[in-house]
Amino acid sequence: MSNENGMSLNNRIRIAFCLVVLVPLVLTGIIFVLFLQHADPVYPVPMLRSDIWFTVIVVFVGILILTSVIAAVWIYHQIATPLAELKWAARNIRDGNLDFTIDPMSNIREVNELSEDFEEMRLRLKESAEEKLEGDKESKELISNISHDLRTPITAIKGYALGLIEGVATTPEKQAHYIHTIYNKANDMDKLIDELTIYSRLDTNRIPYTFARLNVSDYFGDCIEDLRVDLQAQDIGLVYQNDVADDVMMIADAEQLKRAVNNVVSNAVKYMDKQPAMIHVRLRDVGDFIQVEFEDNGKGIAQRDLVRIFDRFYRTDASRNSRVGGSGIGLSIVKKILEDHEGKVWATSKEGVGTTIYFVLRKYVPAEADAQESE
Ligand SMILES: Nc1ncnc2c1ncn2[C@@H]1O[C@H](COP(=O)(O)OP(=O)(O)OP(=O)(O)O)[C@@H](O)[C@H]1O
Ligand SMILES: [Mg+2]
Repeated sequence: MSNENGMSLNNRIRIAFCLVVLVPLVLTGIIFVLFLQHADPVYPVPMLRSDIWFTVIVVFVGILILTSVIAAVWIYHQIATPLAELKWAARNIRDGNLDFTIDPMSNIREVNELSEDFEEMRLRLKESAEEKLEGDKESKELISNISHDLRTPITAIKGYALGLIEGVATTPEKQAHYIHTIYNKANDMDKLIDELTIYSRLDTNRIPYTFARLNVSDYFGDCIEDLRVDLQAQDIGLVYQNDVADDVMMIADAEQLKRAVNNVVSNAVKYMDKQPAMIHVRLRDVGDFIQVEFEDNGKGIAQRDLVRIFDRFYRTDASRNSRVGGSGIGLSIVKKILEDHEGKVWATSKEGVGTTIYFVLRKYVPAEADAQESE
C-alpha cells in the first residue's frame, strides 16, 4: 500500500535539513579546495585574503539558497497537491456531491493517510446518504401501502353502514350480515394497525427485548402445545419432531420469538389448500445452532416470489388476488425478530406442494459466555 511505500514527513524534513546544510558545505569545500590548488604561489596562505573569504561566503550562500529552494519545492509539492485535492473534496462534500474519489497521490505517509481517511469518510457519508434515501423511499411506500390497506376496509364499512342507514338491508338476516361485515372489516383494520405498530416499534427499537436463557426443547415444546389446540380446532394436523438434546439452551426473547412462530404458522394455515392439511415442525441440532423448520402442504410459493416474501408489504400475486386477507407484514416481522436474535430465516417452496420456513438460532454456550463475563 502507498502507506508503507511513502516516506514519513519527519524523515523527509530530516533529509531536507541535511540537504540544506550539507550540500552547501560540501560544495563550498570542494570549490575552496579547487581554488587553493590554483592559487597564486605568491600568496601561499589564501585564507588571509579577504576577497577569497568574500567569494567563499557568496558561493556558500548561493548554494544554500539553491538547496533550500529545491528542498522546499520537494516538500511543498508533496503536500500542496494533495491538500488542493482535499480542499476540492471538502468543497464537494459541503455541496452534497459525494460521487468522486480521492486518490492518495503524495509520497508523504501522513498526507496519504489523511487522503485515505478522507476517502473513507466520503464513502461512509455516501453510504448513510443512500441509506437515508432508501429509508425515505420506504417510508413513502409504507404510507401509501397503509393508506391503501386501510382504505379497503373503510370503503366496505362505509358502504355497509350506508346500506343500513338508507334501509337497503330490509330483512333482519340482511341487516345482521351487514353488521357482521362491518364488524369483520373493523377487525381487519385493528389487526393491521396492531401489526404496523409492532413492526414500527421493532424497526425503531422501541420494543426492548427481554432476552433470557431458555431451554430449547422446553420452549418449543410449549409453543407447539399452544398451537396444537388452535390447529385441531381448524382441522389441521400437527406433527412435531425434536432432534435437539434436552439440555440445549438459547438466549431469546420468549414473547417475540413466539410472535415469529405464530406468524409463520398462521401463514401455513392461511395459505393451506389441501386435505388433510398438515404442518410438520422439526427441531434440528446443526452444530453451534439449532434449526427450526415449519413445513406445510399448502399452495406453495413461486420461485420468483420466494426472495421477496420477507420484504415489508410484499404479498404474492396469488395471495393478493385470493380472498384471504393480509397486508404482507407478517414475515417482515419474523425476519426482524430473527435478525435481532442474531439468527436467520429463509424459505423453500414448491408451488402446489407446500412451503418450508427455516429459523436458525445460536445455541447458548455457557463456557464462552462465562469467559466473556469474566473479561
Ligand atoms: N406458508 C405459506 N404458503 C404459501 N404462501 C405463503 C406462505 N407464507 C407466506 N406466503 C406468501 O408470502 C406472502 C407474505 O407473507 P406475510 O406473512 O408477510 O404476509 P401476509 O400473510 O400476506 O399478510 P399478514 O401476515 O401481514 O397478515 C404472503 O402474502 C403469501 O403470498
Ligand atoms: Mg402472514
